[in-house]
Amino acid sequence: MQPADPCLLVIFGASGDLTSRKLIPSLYQMHCAGLLSGATQVLGVSRRPKSSEDWRGELKSVAQKHCPTFDDSKWAELAARIHYFAADAVKQADWEGLKREMGRLDESGKCRGNLLLFLSVGPELYEPIVEQIELAGLATEGKRWCSLNPADRSWQRIVVEKPFGHDEVSAASLNRALGRVFEEESIYRIDHYLGKEVVQSLLVLRFANSIFEPVWNHRYIDHVQITASESIGVEDRIGFYERTGALRDMIQSHMLQIMAFVAMEPPTNFSADHIRSEKIKAIDAVPVVSAASVPLCCALGQYSSGSGGAGYAELPGVAPQSMTETFAAIRLTVDNWRWARTPFYLRTGKRMAQKRTEVVVQFKPPAADLFRGVCPDDARLEGNRLVIEIAPLERTTLRFASKAPGAMRVAPVEMGVDYAKEFATATVEAYGPLLVDAMRGDQSLFKHRLEVEGAWKAVMPFLNEDSLEVRRAMHSNYEPGSWGPASSTELMARDGRAWHNPPKSSP
Ligand code: BG6
Repeated sequence: MQPADPCLLVIFGASGDLTSRKLIPSLYQMHCAGLLSGATQVLGVSRRPKSSEDWRGELKSVAQKHCPTFDDSKWAELAARIHYFAADAVKQADWEGLKREMGRLDESGKCRGNLLLFLSVGPELYEPIVEQIELAGLATEGKRWCSLNPADRSWQRIVVEKPFGHDEVSAASLNRALGRVFEEESIYRIDHYLGKEVVQSLLVLRFANSIFEPVWNHRYIDHVQITASESIGVEDRIGFYERTGALRDMIQSHMLQIMAFVAMEPPTNFSADHIRSEKIKAIDAVPVVSAASVPLCCALGQYSSGSGGAGYAELPGVAPQSMTETFAAIRLTVDNWRWARTPFYLRTGKRMAQKRTEVVVQFKPPAADLFRGVCPDDARLEGNRLVIEIAPLERTTLRFASKAPGAMRVAPVEMGVDYAKEFATATVEAYGPLLVDAMRGDQSLFKHRLEVEGAWKAVMPFLNEDSLEVRRAMHSNYEPGSWGPASSTELMARDGRAWHNPPKSSP
């Protein structure tokens, strides 16, 4: 991987959880891997007054916890380039001092005017902060300096976290607000799932092998399941979660992105523009489910109390008749020649049986069952199944039929690869490579405006009034530690299918 350009990384929302638990440990890992430029400076901005020294101390203890091979001297090298400035980024009066500090760090750190602005704040602050960035005259690339040779001009980029908007309309409005200040090529809509190794390796599996692509279509594939189950509950994010719910938190963002990687056509080449344009087309081909079909295409749930924990509805801060789902399963299709009528089932939830993120590609059974009547147990042959596990293990397994020893009997067997064993590497925090990509100007793993808006369009029927009937029935409808509500099993059963629910100890 090519190292990042020199730059000043400004993190708005420096006191937040994301900064200390994810961003700084990721930067530390990237620094250890030699992927950050020696001229990288980090400036954390938040309202709470504290010194750079104090902030470094806080960050160090969190980084130690998150990085098993923590090295004091490596940390000291990075920490010397980490700074803090107390300011309210939505108040114009605070920007004078902030701009001065940014200028000072840029000059002393030899950042060459390159600026990476990371919005790690609540979504309601995105637009006001972008407005202040514009007023401060910080976004100059593209808009004003386009006559300069790219090698001589500095860049200014903005990284925006999810949730990107609250619905289709607010996402489009946020895109317009960002577009008034930054060019699309300077806007990095981050989705940490795209930084996960196995999500990226989906593209290699599909397009660097010749055996999968010919069968990767509705003629051979019966359906696709994408699951992101979590064993933890909503923890200390109740306020955020009450406004958000599982569909907005996971399906609109991470899971539709994984679906786009599974469904997209091969890009002409491996460039950001080509990859993103194929993803845009795949998401665009998802038809909007009609109001009448919503109850048939969706199951929503809220976890009840159990195994020593409170149910979602009992948590302080949750409205007594809360309509926020902690579990969602939906059925979508991709209306194009490759996928015609092939269902994609997407499922996610809190406090489920286990932490597991996976894609299951279920192939159709053989057209003719030669072994019917020959096998003693006379079972119908199962189709092949490709399981791509993304977390917590990174494994890919293909199930196929084999002859069992002895009398003629067909039995399923599996072959697979475990990435950690195969490549002998530890899992890297997904934000690290994404931050380095943003510093290198590579947008391949960031979402285009149209992908975000298309994903909102696809999930809106499950969020708006069309979903009310399903929402009214979801109060405490699944046990913690289960695979979700009965309605989720019924969703699959109606189509004659079942979820892939492996036992926890599955090898
Ligand atoms: C975040 C969601 O985007 O992803 C969280 O806001 C969720 O609710 C998390 O827990 C899951 O990420 P991961 O990487 O642990 O699967």
